[in-house]
Amino acid sequence: MLTKGFWQRFIPTRDAHAPTADACYWRVDMHSHMLPGIDDGVADLNETLTCLKQLADWGIQKVITTPHISRDWYPNSTADIRQGLVAVQELIAEHQLPLTIDVAAEYLLDDFFLSFLEQDDLLSFGEKRYLLVETGWASAPLRLPDILFRIQTHGYIPVLAHPERYKYYHADRNALAKIRETGCLFQLNWMSLCGRYGSQVEKQARFLLQQHWVDFIGSDMHRPNDLPAMEQLFKPSTMKLLEEQTLLNSTLLS
Ligand SMILES: [Fe+2]
Repeated sequence: MLTKGFWQRFIPTRDAHAPTADACYWRVDMHSHMLPGIDDGVADLNETLTCLKQLADWGIQKVITTPHISRDWYPNSTADIRQGLVAVQELIAEHQLPLTIDVAAEYLLDDFFLSFLEQDDLLSFGEKRYLLVETGWASAPLRLPDILFRIQTHGYIPVLAHPERYKYYHADRNALAKIRETGCLFQLNWMSLCGRYGSQVEKQARFLLQQHWVDFIGSDMHRPNDLPAMEQLFKPSTMKLLEEQTLLNSTLLS
């Protein structure tokens, strides 16, 4: 369990929310869109630099950035993503940022994904081979239990990205419980706790925390415009809720 003296993370200034360099005690951000030109994330390396600098200032030591992969919108390949990583690694070295970066991907669970799964051509993260997956926004995926099972039989641990954001689960929390029972882990979006996606999503995010169903927190940052909203996370009441979770982020440091 990641715990740290709660008040030690805050500077006693006029602004009680001002985070110190120790604020992100989970150390590893494992969901973001920091490779320019590959999905709906950052537009260029200047935006990448702005985002990474801020994460480092908040205490993040490692970023695992996760471009979208989907057949209809972002048909990226493993090679595309690995190639994009090189430019950002050079950027980090050039500006001597105190963090490292690696890549994985955020996979939409479509037929494109299933073909990658069969070919074992997937970008996972961590020694346990976590795989970040998302489902469509329109309706609950009927084949989800089957796909999650197939992911696990191929030796991966599925991590469902931002379960709090799927509206079809807002009134069906039992469905989320069933997904967890399959062995799928949950990744909460940082900005879901900051009101960025509306009050219903924030309510669901707080429910997940109350259930202790949050395994990872991720920024899902797409651009520098996300940063002001992200700062809202550091409200003491919100940080206290997070501190009560058993987050796995820091296990990804090595
Ligand atoms: Fe994302």
